[in-house]
Amino acid sequence: MATKFFVLFLPFLFCSFVHSSIELGSSIVAGTNSSWRSSSGDYAFGFYHLRSGRYLVGIWFDKIPNKTLVWSANRDKPVEIGSTVNLTQSGQFVVQPVNDVLFSIHDGTNTTSAVMLDDGNFVLRDSLSNYLWKSFDSPTDTLLLGQTMQVGQKLFSNTEGSVDYSTGQYSLEIQQSDGNILLKAYRYTDSAYWWSDTAGNEGVRIIFNNTTAALYAVNRTNQIIHNLATADIGAIEDNYHRVLVNDQGNFQKLIYPKKNGSEWIAMWNAVTKPCTVTALCGVYGFCDTTGSDTKNYTCECLPGYTPFDPTAPSKGCYLSQAKNLCAANSSAPDNTVEVKEVQDADIPSKGFFFFDLQGIDNTDLENCKRELRDDCLSMAAVFNGSTCIKKRFPIINAIRLTPDTSNHVMLIKVPLVDNEKDSSLVVLTVALILCSLLAVLFAATAIYHHPFCLYLIHKRTPPKPKPKPMDINLKAFSFQQLREATNGFKDKLGRGAYGTVYGGILNLEGQQVEVAVKQLEQVEDQGEKEFVTEVQVIALTHHKNLVGLLGFCNEQNHRLLVYEKMENGTLSNFLFGEGGKPSWESRVRIVLEIARGLLYLHEECDQQIIHCDIKPQNVLLDSSYTAKISDFGLAKLLMKDKTRTNADARGTMGYMAPEWLKNAPVTSKVDIYSFGVMLLEIIFCRRHIELHQIEEGTNGDDMILIDWVLCLAKENTLRNTVIHDPEVESDFKRFERMTMVGLWCINPNPTLRPSMKMVVHMLEGNIEVGVPPIN
Ligand SMILES: *[C@@H]1O[C@H](CO)[C@@H](O)[C@H](O)[C@H]1NC(C)=O
Ligand SMILES: *[C@@H]1O[C@H](CO)[C@@H](O)[C@H](O)[C@H]1NC(C)=O
Ligand SMILES: *[C@@H]1O[C@H](CO)[C@@H](O)[C@H](O)[C@H]1NC(C)=O
Ligand SMILES: *[C@@H]1O[C@H](CO)[C@@H](O)[C@H](O)[C@H]1NC(C)=O
Ligand SMILES: *[C@@H]1O[C@H](CO)[C@@H](O)[C@H](O)[C@H]1NC(C)=O
Ligand SMILES: *[C@@H]1O[C@H](CO)[C@@H](O)[C@H](O)[C@H]1NC(C)=O
Ligand SMILES: *[C@@H]1O[C@H](CO)[C@@H](O)[C@H](O)[C@H]1NC(C)=O
Ligand SMILES: *[C@@H]1O[C@H](CO)[C@@H](O)[C@H](O)[C@H]1NC(C)=O
Ligand SMILES: *[C@@H]1O[C@H](CO)[C@@H](O)[C@H](O)[C@H]1NC(C)=O
Ligand SMILES: *[C@@H]1O[C@H](CO)[C@@H](O)[C@H](O)[C@H]1NC(C)=O
Ligand SMILES: *[C@@H]1O[C@H](CO)[C@@H](O)[C@H](O)[C@H]1NC(C)=O
Repeated sequence: MATKFFVLFLPFLFCSFVHSSIELGSSIVAGTNSSWRSSSGDYAFGFYHLRSGRYLVGIWFDKIPNKTLVWSANRDKPVEIGSTVNLTQSGQFVVQPVNDVLFSIHDGTNTTSAVMLDDGNFVLRDSLSNYLWKSFDSPTDTLLLGQTMQVGQKLFSNTEGSVDYSTGQYSLEIQQSDGNILLKAYRYTDSAYWWSDTAGNEGVRIIFNNTTAALYAVNRTNQIIHNLATADIGAIEDNYHRVLVNDQGNFQKLIYPKKNGSEWIAMWNAVTKPCTVTALCGVYGFCDTTGSDTKNYTCECLPGYTPFDPTAPSKGCYLSQAKNLCAANSSAPDNTVEVKEVQDADIPSKGFFFFDLQGIDNTDLENCKRELRDDCLSMAAVFNGSTCIKKRFPIINAIRLTPDTSNHVMLIKVPLVDNEKDSSLVVLTVALILCSLLAVLFAATAIYHHPFCLYLIHKRTPPKPKPKPMDINLKAFSFQQLREATNGFKDKLGRGAYGTVYGGILNLEGQQVEVAVKQLEQVEDQGEKEFVTEVQVIALTHHKNLVGLLGFCNEQNHRLLVYEKMENGTLSNFLFGEGGKPSWESRVRIVLEIARGLLYLHEECDQQIIHCDIKPQNVLLDSSYTAKISDFGLAKLLMKDKTRTNADARGTMGYMAPEWLKNAPVTSKVDIYSFGVMLLEIIFCRRHIELHQIEEGTNGDDMILIDWVLCLAKENTLRNTVIHDPEVESDFKRFERMTMVGLWCINPNPTLRPSMKMVVHMLEGNIEVGVPPIN
């Protein structure tokens, strides 16, 4: 009797679980072990614990010991322990991170419940059980059985397997224009390294069929137009299934046996030769296959290049002896460069329409080498037995070819090590600058303990022999002198990150000179000697697009710098002030002037100076409106700060290169990024961030200048923005070129940003500007 009773009631009990839904007002807190599970227990929704200690709001296979993550709401912004995800009483589905602003997953008002379904789909429902929101509609890198993908949706790989789930460098998409399915390294101008050949179809969707586990593409009338992975043999319930764009750029179908599984097994791979994946070995990497085994690959660096991370050669390489080979008066190239040969290797150009420079037909290897050596803009070439094709840098897809099928020779140009002089791109001299800046800007975050920063502290260079003070035409003033000159510090000209600036008049060599006196507030408590040393470095710079330093004061705890006075104030005021929009001609001129000043700081003065804080507030205009960069060399004097508020830091935030935030080497390319943002501000005459919406019906996507410009470039609607400005419209070619230069400069990947030398060449129109990677 008892048994019968149990059997009768079992379905009822089971049912109550199937329909167990998540009520309004429910929440999960990161760090507790609670999650919302599907009825079978196969999937769970909640906070996924990362190795970094932080959490992603996501969905995972809950019965697999390693809890494979299949979806997440915040892959690029993990949250801290204690953060919550709430289905609020008013129906919103929101995440409240600890110490950060709330963000919503779904903003609806009609939600009455949510449920983690048994196929891995998390849904929000209204009172009639219609789905208002589905996790299946916003996939990350994975598709599950029963999931479809359509035009407009994309899958983005992870950065690194189960270590780093943030958005990686590969994407899968169905091309809107023709229905072709493409795999590409989307941050580069990569048209695709794998495609389905389904061009010419409409309404294409990818289906991961839940009755057969087959993966295929259909057209608008649901007819199969391309088979990707075949149906599974045997019962599909025996395995877990997923389809993934992995961190090596492959698109694959994987299964995990439910009973005795120990790992995911790949059943199908879109790419069969890994080295054909763009940028698989990073920038300046070399993808090598061992003999005839094209499935197995290793990443190396091009000859002469050094890996960024010796433990992970796939992260790309750099030239440690980087030199500006195009510099005027650089000595004969024969003595400064060497051309290295790599047999059976190629840098394929298919899909990289802008990476090839011109080809030279009917030539020989020696001539190809000579051509490469003499072309300061090219760093590599490929000789195929008859044609020599010079390659534009960066090189992102150098590969080994199977020996017997080619007679290709890859040529790589490497600057020779110069023992007499210091290499021109010494990064370490700025180590301290970067370090103190990082500390200030991110004092509130864990970046304080940034490994790069620690590394730099230990690596601090021994002091270089300094130029003798008498070489420098620099005056030391007493505090009393400056107090008198500024009339007791009464005439306040402005306030910057480093201190307050006062106007005054000084008697210099019998002449009354108008000066600007900057009272440094946060100078590190370093010895008098160091202060004078830094000031001398600044004083050694002489360029018409830099604000000149006339003298300094270093008395007790007073640290002041005396500059020539710039009558027309800051560029920021000139662009966005009350005077209205400056003329197009003057804006173009100012861009070039700033570029030349920065070029001097980076490449032409004795000791490279990285500015670290390029923005319109730090560019001043003299009496004839010539632009001059100010505040350079000061970052080094900055101290870990107590008074500077978050608001100040955010003011500079928009100009900061993304690598500040990442554990990546920081070089002069941070200035290039800031310059790029500023260039766009100048030519569009718009601040990098607008606090209100610009265009109607755009969801405010246009509030961030660089996103807006990227969007315009992508949609090819740049011209629309200048229709009301005849001055610019009549010079549209130049406007477009400058925009492209700006977009190159703000590339998230520092190695892809041009040098200042290249920027000046491109702005002057001396070299062609390629199409920047836009995505
Ligand atoms: C969560 O689960 C792990 C392992 O099962 C356990 O060590 C930990 O104490 C649990 N944490 C909480 C807050 O229950
Ligand atoms: C989310 O839920 C937690 C715990 O129930 C609560 O403390 C918090 O205030 C809620 N946050 C929001 C934004 O509703
Ligand atoms: C919410 O429900 C109301 C009434 O049923 C309906 O008119 C409205 O369109 C719904 N809103 C959304 C966003 O679904
Ligand atoms: C398969 O997916 C369809 C909708 O795409 C759904 O109606 C059906 O219930 C699913 N079947 C299984 C076995 O999950
Ligand atoms: C999945 O495949 C089965 C058998 O081929 C077919 O009947 C069904 O319509 C397919 N499901 C979808 C959602 O296309
Ligand atoms: C879909 O594909 C089938 C087979 O290729 C073709 O006959 C049909 O016309 C296509 N439908 C559309 C709307 O293109
Ligand atoms: C799992 O068990 C099945 C039989 O139960 C066996 O055929 C299969 O090889 C096993 N797989 C693994 C990975 O051990
Ligand atoms: C599961 O995780 C452990 C520890 O992180 C790791 O050693 C193991 O390789 C993982 N297994 C799979 C199949 O990923
Ligand atoms: C690839 O090479 C590694 C070592 O070079 C070797 O251990 C592995 O078995 C190879 N894999 C294949 C599929 O040949
Ligand atoms: C380069 O050489 C020219 C002529 O030889 C000279 O006038 C010029 O000053 C030199 N420039 C530099 C930067 O040395
Ligand atoms: C070398 O490349 C050129 C241009 O792509 C091509 O016309 C020529 O046939 C190639 N020669 C050999 C030997 O492959």
